[in-house]
Amino acid sequence: MTDCQADGEGARSPMELYEKLNAQGEKVRSLKTAKAEKAEIDAAVQLLLKLKVDYKQMTGNDYKAGCPPSENVVMSDNGLAADGADDEDTVDPWNVATSNAKGVDYDKLIVRFGSSKIDQELVDRIEKVSGQKPHRFLRRGIFFSHRDMHQVLDAYEKNKSFYLYTGRGPSSEAMHVGHLIPFIFTKWLQDVFDIPLVIQLTDDEKYLWKDLTLEECHRFAVENAKDIIACGFDVNKTFIFSDLDYMGSSPEFYRNVVKVQKHVTFNQVKGIFGFTDSDCIGKISFPAIQAAPSFSNSFPQIFGGKKDIQCLIPCAIDQDPYFRMTRDVAPRIGYPKPALLHSTFFPALQGAQTKMSASDANSSIFLTDTPKQIKNKVNKHAFSGGKDTVEEHRKYGGNADVDVSFMYLTFFLEDDEQLEKIKQDYTSGALLTGELKKILIETLQPMIAQHQERRKQVTDEMVQQFMTPRPLNFHF
Ligand code: TYM
Repeated sequence: MTDCQADGEGARSPMELYEKLNAQGEKVRSLKTAKAEKAEIDAAVQLLLKLKVDYKQMTGNDYKAGCPPSENVVMSDNGLAADGADDEDTVDPWNVATSNAKGVDYDKLIVRFGSSKIDQELVDRIEKVSGQKPHRFLRRGIFFSHRDMHQVLDAYEKNKSFYLYTGRGPSSEAMHVGHLIPFIFTKWLQDVFDIPLVIQLTDDEKYLWKDLTLEECHRFAVENAKDIIACGFDVNKTFIFSDLDYMGSSPEFYRNVVKVQKHVTFNQVKGIFGFTDSDCIGKISFPAIQAAPSFSNSFPQIFGGKKDIQCLIPCAIDQDPYFRMTRDVAPRIGYPKPALLHSTFFPALQGAQTKMSASDANSSIFLTDTPKQIKNKVNKHAFSGGKDTVEEHRKYGGNADVDVSFMYLTFFLEDDEQLEKIKQDYTSGALLTGELKKILIETLQPMIAQHQERRKQVTDEMVQQFMTPRPLNFHF
């Protein structure tokens, strides 16, 4: 009960979901009347709220008792809450915006999207099953939400393994640090679980969405592949593919694309992605192409035609609409639903109201930036939670919750104790904004320089190897 249909899962039509809502509303009322335990009432109310969100997603309308759904409803979700309370946060594959300086309210997003929180219990479980200290992204709630991760671990414990799928839309030659987050984490997952990985480069998507030629998009895909390879993926366990190349060469992949296309209506993609009548038909059918790698038989060279190998997708939460759609379709075409791990956004230098954007050079630290550019960007543009004068700062302290330099350190500084000390010192006023920025600059400069060094070692032959459809090494 964790995806787009959440607790309404199993409810195949708006009417069925409407009836479930009526029944749940009745249950809440009777629990209250009977003065049941608070926890029981809370759980029932929680379920009712989730069903309401599902109803809004499925129909585009708010649930109202006594008003059954009409025919031809739009199954809709841009993450808008049924009560309209969250509409200041916009999160979809193309836009991330909030009016809150601390960033998107991720707890509310979990309820709106119907996913589950990565709580301490799950982090502990990942530690136990993998036998490794949890990655800092898990320890610090940067990967904060999931779908079906417990199921993945249950199966893994019974020796039923899984594969990883993630991706990148190659819209330019230079990737920014934000784009690295899912790849850094995916590399860790690959290492600790020792499993195969497929990486989709959606050059077709970028051709459809941007003012770029097919040749440019394909070239960016190959260039981006070098940055991805530089994250350290194991060539024996990783297949990277450009859609423009792989779609035409793999009948099995294309068959899955067509299956998904047959099971999603125009109304549904309009509701999920906000497409309009004037969007080209390429965009409208694209989500099926991002869905297809979630099914193992899209890669017969790796999985030998098996269609039931569980897929786990690490990504930032902006990509979730694609996978809500995928999870909705999967059982209807005879496949397991992919599981997901969602990350928060690496914020823009200007503040956490939006994510880093590749189209604004000053909002991002690029993987191609020189040490001097990094220093200038951080010093000039990184939004500070410090006070206006040194005296005031010493007296009242800074606000780490809105300070972008501190936020960046939470992503990249490995040492938990050092990070905590920086937070305390900044909050107390002992550490000044300039000093905090210096720590960040000294963390980012070697990190980016090392990335550039590793990227230099990536030869065209290595890219070719990663991008050739071939068997991978793993034992399931
Ligand atoms: P793209 O190229 O926009 O982003 C690549 C990956 O980076 C994540 N991401 C971020 N993570 C943290 N902070 C940020 N500021 C930030 N910006 C982007 C994205 O969530 C993504 O995981 N359509 C996709 C490509 C794709 C894909 C996939 C992504 C195809 N299949 C499967 C993830 C999983 C895209 O354009 O990603």
